[in-house]
Amino acid sequence: MLLPWAFLSSLFVLGLAEPARRTYDTHDYYVLRHDPLSTTGAPLVEALQTLGVELVEQAGELKDHWLVRRLKPPGLVTRDHFDPVLSTFKMFQAQANAPLAVRSPQNQLARRITASVDYLSLQTLRRRAKRAPPPIPPPPQPSSQDVAARFGIQDPLFPKQWHLVNNDFPEHMMNVTGVWDMGFKGKGVISSLVDDGLEYESEDLSQNFDAENSFDFNDHQKLPTPKNYDDHHGTRCAGQVAAQKNNVCGVGIAYESKVAGVRILSGPISDVDEAAALNYGFQNVSIYSCSWGPPDNGQSMEGPNYLIKKAVVNGINNGRGGKGSIFVFASGNGAGHGDQCNFDGYTNSIYSITVSAVDYKGLHPYYSETCAANMIVAYSSGSGRHIVTTDKGKNACATTHGGTSAAAPNAVGVFALALQVRPDLTWRDIQHLCVETARRINPEDPDWEDAPNDKRYSYKYGFGVLDAYHYVKAAQTWKLVKPQAWYQTKAIQLNNGTYHGNTYEGGEFIVPGGVESKTLITKEMLEENNLETLEHINVKVWISHTTRGEVEVELVSPNGIRSILGGARAGDRDSTGYPGWTFMTVKHWGENPIGHWTLKVKDQNKPNSNGTFIGWNMIFWGSSIDPSKAYKFEVPLGNDDFPPTEIPARPIIVEPTSTTSKQHAKPTNHLPGDHGVAAGEKTKPAFPSSTVGSTSTTTTLAETSSPATISGTPDIGWFSDMSKLVTSQKWFFVALGAVSLFGIGVGMFFLWRRRMAQTRATDYAPLDDENGHSMTALGTSVSGPRTTRELYDAFGEVSDDDDDETTALRQPLARSGGLGFHSGFLDDDDPSTTTAGMPSTYRDEPDHQEEPSHSRLRETPRDDESSSSPPGSVDGSWEHASRE
Ligand SMILES: *[C@@H]1O[C@H](CO)[C@@H](O)[C@H](O)[C@H]1NC(C)=O
Ligand SMILES: *[C@@H]1O[C@H](CO)[C@@H](O)[C@H](O)[C@H]1NC(C)=O
Ligand SMILES: *[C@@H]1O[C@H](CO)[C@@H](O)[C@H](O)[C@H]1NC(C)=O
Ligand SMILES: *[C@@H]1O[C@H](CO)[C@@H](O)[C@H](O)[C@H]1NC(C)=O
Repeated sequence: MLLPWAFLSSLFVLGLAEPARRTYDTHDYYVLRHDPLSTTGAPLVEALQTLGVELVEQAGELKDHWLVRRLKPPGLVTRDHFDPVLSTFKMFQAQANAPLAVRSPQNQLARRITASVDYLSLQTLRRRAKRAPPPIPPPPQPSSQDVAARFGIQDPLFPKQWHLVNNDFPEHMMNVTGVWDMGFKGKGVISSLVDDGLEYESEDLSQNFDAENSFDFNDHQKLPTPKNYDDHHGTRCAGQVAAQKNNVCGVGIAYESKVAGVRILSGPISDVDEAAALNYGFQNVSIYSCSWGPPDNGQSMEGPNYLIKKAVVNGINNGRGGKGSIFVFASGNGAGHGDQCNFDGYTNSIYSITVSAVDYKGLHPYYSETCAANMIVAYSSGSGRHIVTTDKGKNACATTHGGTSAAAPNAVGVFALALQVRPDLTWRDIQHLCVETARRINPEDPDWEDAPNDKRYSYKYGFGVLDAYHYVKAAQTWKLVKPQAWYQTKAIQLNNGTYHGNTYEGGEFIVPGGVESKTLITKEMLEENNLETLEHINVKVWISHTTRGEVEVELVSPNGIRSILGGARAGDRDSTGYPGWTFMTVKHWGENPIGHWTLKVKDQNKPNSNGTFIGWNMIFWGSSIDPSKAYKFEVPLGNDDFPPTEIPARPIIVEPTSTTSKQHAKPTNHLPGDHGVAAGEKTKPAFPSSTVGSTSTTTTLAETSSPATISGTPDIGWFSDMSKLVTSQKWFFVALGAVSLFGIGVGMFFLWRRRMAQTRATDYAPLDDENGHSMTALGTSVSGPRTTRELYDAFGEVSDDDDDETTALRQPLARSGGLGFHSGFLDDDDPSTTTAGMPSTYRDEPDHQEEPSHSRLRETPRDDESSSSPPGSVDGSWEHASRE
């Protein structure tokens, strides 16, 4: 039965070594190694016979290795662990190793066999994971050609609308076609483009234009005609939302929805008109698309003032039949200037959905602003591509639209689709769905940090990119959230710090390493305030500083989740500090807020500038425990004094709101000319130090235990908290005496100061608690001295600049800017007018152009500054600040 050795050898010589068919079902296969040169060993044929196997062939290309086999015993299933071949071989090995004295013939055979066969192994079948082909890719994304055919889209520029169908990077697009497949194209939903007009005569928009809800607040006419040569921005944004499916340009994300135009950006506008614009048609309009805001120059810190806040909250409380208007704001294009969206009171409002940009490769475009108020990102210009949309004119198309201005309307389009599916979604449901469905991109980007509930958050991307398909899918089954509730902490005062009439006094000096202050949130506080789950957090701060841009503010939750609220801004030389500025963070969404919250305030420890941390408070916003006890927030009256003062019994509005007018900067004002071509990135954290621990041994700790836990007189609170450290009041007084008399040490000194600060905080707490008015929900309106503020109000941006000379000079220029600032590189429409190239050139130019008056005050220190400490450089980090 076995082939003779000679015959076998001749087979190999003849090259007939094609692998034989295997019959694993009838045979067991083994591989053995046989040493042909062994002088004492058995030849192969003998070894095989002895082991009871037959030769099949050489084992592949392995010399001296043989594949052998043995017929499986028929019907033998029970003894599956017994293998006669292996057992025999093992037995031979054992016998061969027995002492030489044993000279039985069996032992001699064993020695002969094992002298030549030193390896024998049973072959078992197993499955190998395939490596060569990559994991099976998701079903191929349809190309724009397929999609056009499927939906009968004949719009000539549709193939260029990569934000709808990205043929090159299919994972990077708004992902709307799946929603269109479901039959939703936005029918019945109205979005209002609050902008510079809307070309209702465009063949791409006329059918979807809603005249009834449109108005021109610049020229006080019914129709929002884009009259100025550069009034194309609103039309382009409108095209992104609702450009018709026809043969003009491309299509909108919600191409069966309607768009209204409210014109406010083409000239000066008063607060009352801006307020009216943000509520215009607010029963029938669902979404307000706002791609504008305070200057993105990295220097200003401005927000809406009382009337405008009032209008926004009115829209939230009463708009859309009480479900709340959806306000969508672009985060700003000033990242190249070191600007951050937390210095813009519109984008850091809890009522607005802040949208930043990513480009068609999914990278962070350098212009797109970062901050803890960023909710999501949507696609826009960068890495060589722009947004293709409708333009001003009868059938004109725009191919170079971009900036965060274009990211926001893409989000608006997605929300319009969702509201067709679920018109009952409230303004907070829309935000929840963003948090829940945003898709994480560039997971390796170091800017991603842990957020509650296994989420990740990035100052650049928010919770991720808005994906229309996932958003609408989730909206279909979304359970509406309970009404809003909130808890405002009492004011926490540091070292007798006060702010009255634009003057700071006292406060904790900001030492190298910074100042920390803590507040305790208890379960009882939340329950008393009907607060069940957390959404947004506001932190209102009072900080005096000679150079505001050097201040850094960071919030750390009881669970160690950190929000950088304000990073250093090299361009911000303002000396008015933070007179009650309200930051906002969404990073703690869903977190359990119980425990100690820490606010850290640092500066760059520069020799010629310094400041003091005066005080702060927080508002935790979220869902109510008992909906029947929920009530709607109203914008409080009052000023930004610290400690917060009582609301006057009869409200007195001090702001000269209705008599002034201002002009909002065009959204493209600070959009660099190369916004569409500059390469994006995904390798940098927004705040370079943000991933590094910032604990410093020099930190002074102004811990203030929660006023609610020490309910009672300030004294009780003082001692009750002290009891953690000392066991009796007497001891404490002795210690206190020892500190003051003998100077036991700096540590005790700080402890004493901390306690004192705490006492005073509780002094003020009841006032604040009863009235709860000090915190404005939309950020503080004004930060400069009142005289300056009024001047600024007279023409536009509420500014924080306290230099009257600058103010005076700025006024006429800002006015003329309404017409002239769009020349050249500022424009976002015409690459020929841009000199793409040296970023440093054009980045500085908007400031020069807009404010040629910016004198020594701004320019000189800024140049110093940018050479020594550019924004976001390691120099400006917490880490370095503490090392310096
Ligand atoms: C996009 O939508 C499709 C359905 O049309 C869905 O399967 C996919 O998960 C969505 N997201 C991405 C990134 O493709
Ligand atoms: C709102 O829509 C209703 C019907 O849908 C219409 O009767 C009403 O005139 C509209 N109002 C405004 C202000 O657009
Ligand atoms: C704070 O003010 C109180 C009185 O208002 C005063 O007694 C106390 O000495 C002050 N503390 C500090 C540290 O200035
Ligand atoms: C803070 O800076 C100001 C202005 O440079 C200076 O006059 C003052 O002495 C400084 N204070 C401290 C405590 O360093």
